[in-house]
Amino acid sequence: MSSAKSDSSERVEIDGMYILKVALIPLTLAASILFLYLYVKPIEQQSATMLVAPKSRDMRAEQIRMFALNEIVKANSHDLPPRSRNISAKALCKQKLACAPFNRRYETMIRVAPQYKMVNCVVQKSMSTMMTGAMCYLYNETQYEKSGRSFDDEFSGRLCKNQNEFSSVNSVRDAFNISYVKHDWTFSMVTRNPIDRFVSGYVDRCVRLALKNETQCNGCGLNMTCFIETEYKRLMEISYKRKTHRTMEDAHFFPQVWHCDLNEEFEFFEFIQYSGNAEDKMVPQLQDLLERQNVPEKSIEFIKNELIYKKSSHSTTGTPAKRFYYSRLMKSPYLLEFIVKMFYYDFLRFHYELPPGF
Ligand SMILES: *[C@@H]1O[C@H](CO)[C@@H](O)[C@H](O)[C@H]1NC(C)=O
Ligand SMILES: *[C@@H]1O[C@H](CO)[C@@H](O)[C@H](O)[C@H]1NC(C)=O
Ligand SMILES: *[C@@H]1O[C@H](CO)[C@@H](O)[C@H](O)[C@H]1NC(C)=O
Ligand SMILES: *[C@@H]1O[C@H](CO)[C@@H](O)[C@H](O)[C@H]1NC(C)=O
Ligand SMILES: *[C@@H]1O[C@H](CO)[C@@H](O)[C@H](O)[C@H]1NC(C)=O
Repeated sequence: MSSAKSDSSERVEIDGMYILKVALIPLTLAASILFLYLYVKPIEQQSATMLVAPKSRDMRAEQIRMFALNEIVKANSHDLPPRSRNISAKALCKQKLACAPFNRRYETMIRVAPQYKMVNCVVQKSMSTMMTGAMCYLYNETQYEKSGRSFDDEFSGRLCKNQNEFSSVNSVRDAFNISYVKHDWTFSMVTRNPIDRFVSGYVDRCVRLALKNETQCNGCGLNMTCFIETEYKRLMEISYKRKTHRTMEDAHFFPQVWHCDLNEEFEFFEFIQYSGNAEDKMVPQLQDLLERQNVPEKSIEFIKNELIYKKSSHSTTGTPAKRFYYSRLMKSPYLLEFIVKMFYYDFLRFHYELPPGF
């Protein structure tokens, strides 16, 4: 029931159950169910695709690309139009088919530590590698310490692959008999500010890994305007027209609320806000959670040490590319409007402040 996933090898999940359900329902209900199926909760049903990142990475070239501002500035030298109307996010998303909906199911990547009754759902670009490490460590501290690994090592190959991994909340509930009522398990997920997550994902996928592949990043090269416009269109097609073709980028740019089966499980989850500076916000929240689950002090210290002092090696934080794109986005109400339309429910449900003017 587990599936292998990381930032470097991703498997897009299918949920065939829904098709089955539809097939089994009496004909009289079929029309209304079909309506629901199409318009309320279309579940993607392409066949499983294994998307694999390039095997050999040239880290030096990747770094250079994130510092090569000339090319980046050139690709973004055009002026940006104003917004057509200065309306609030709420008014914007009241319009039909303007914003990505809340209730879609994309992929779910779960890591468990049964000893501490912990379930964590990881989402790309929100500490997924580090949390995968932390959960693997908690799965068996002895085994992890023996391996001599760092959480960051999980990026290139997961120690607990297929051991503590699940691809739906239901399968975890089944495996450990976790009821919907009172239980002492905890379901958690790290969330990230949607703007920060977008820019970080953009720089990671479209600048750092700029391959010579025309189709990557919607064929936009380093032009973020082009990418945002086309990605918004893609997201709307996937949301409402059941467009099924997916790319490797999608996992990084689809709303966070589409992950982790939150369309059904939202109320059972506890959310930890990611912060660039792990110490100030994220670590205290995680520590609180670990203490509640009776994780020993020694293990908590091990995790804190990994999160605070061993920064992820594929981070884009602080690079000139990230600063440039972040600043360009924040200065453009036109571009921000697309971001708000794509991630409205991430802002709303995870309590992130909407950008000024929305
Ligand atoms: C929207 O607000 C900006 C300033 O925030 C202003 O320059 C622009 O004229 C306004 N546009 C409309 C259509 O009201
Ligand atoms: C953890 O791993 C060690 C050795 O790697 C093994 O001896 C031990 O049984 C494992 N503990 C659990 C709870 O699985
Ligand atoms: C599952 O948990 C329920 C209580 O939540 C219990 O009544 C039942 O016996 C458990 N089933 C198994 C197979 O452990
Ligand atoms: C570019 O990537 C797409 C998938 O994203 C793949 O189908 C295509 O074969 C690639 N083209 C080249 C020239 O590598
Ligand atoms: C970037 O893309 C946008 C939208 O596709 C386009 O209007 C703009 O001219 C492009 N900028 C450059 C510098 O090519």
